[in-house]
Amino acid sequence: MTLRLEVYDDWADQVATRLGQRLRPGLRLCLPTGATPAPVYARLATGFAGVTVFLLDEFGGLAPGHPARCDTTIRTRLLDHLDQPPVLHALDPDAPDLAAECARYQTLVDGGGLDLTILGLGSNGHLGLNEPGSGADSTTRVVKLAESTRRRATAYGANPPPTWGLTLGLAPVLRSTEIWLLVTGAHKAPALRRLREEAAGPAFPATLLRRHPNAVVLADAAAA
Ligand code: PGA
Repeated sequence: MTLRLEVYDDWADQVATRLGQRLRPGLRLCLPTGATPAPVYARLATGFAGVTVFLLDEFGGLAPGHPARCDTTIRTRLLDHLDQPPVLHALDPDAPDLAAECARYQTLVDGGGLDLTILGLGSNGHLGLNEPGSGADSTTRVVKLAESTRRRATAYGANPPPTWGLTLGLAPVLRSTEIWLLVTGAHKAPALRRLREEAAGPAFPATLLRRHPNAVVLADAAAA
């Protein structure tokens, strides 16, 4: 299967409008953090009443409230400026038993499934914190971060950057009814090229989206 690619000059407006149209009470939505979705989130102020949001991943070893944490980021970038916030579920990196926490989260996600999962693209092909080597059957788990991911975390304000994290696995991600992969900026052009040209496999995990029947890449002109 080829991965559908849509390219927009007015990328953030397009993605925000599309997401706004999908929002409805009862929607089960998985959201990423990172820099890519920030302009989309900035454009949304309403429509989240009755929506359940599952956060895609979380860094380990950062204090609660740390600005680089994914739960802090989704609050400050999106939830705090919504008229009616969604219910938010997240992986807790401070849980005493991390394996049990990951199992709890995946059971919660799989309980009703995901209607729509939105992802960013790592320059190394990661989805969430499913780093290279992650297979389509990977479950929600504790992961060691790749060096490029640690550098990215430094840019988010984590200094020293985390060495590990928790991520929704690719198996529950790929069970989502629909997936949007967001890719923006000239610095992501090489990763987008690899995504489109390489054989599907764990070496560049985003290629595994090709096996999904309803996945689309939404890119801006600079990335494409
Ligand atoms: P970015 O991160 O949106 O900050 O580029 C994407 C990712 O690493 O998944």
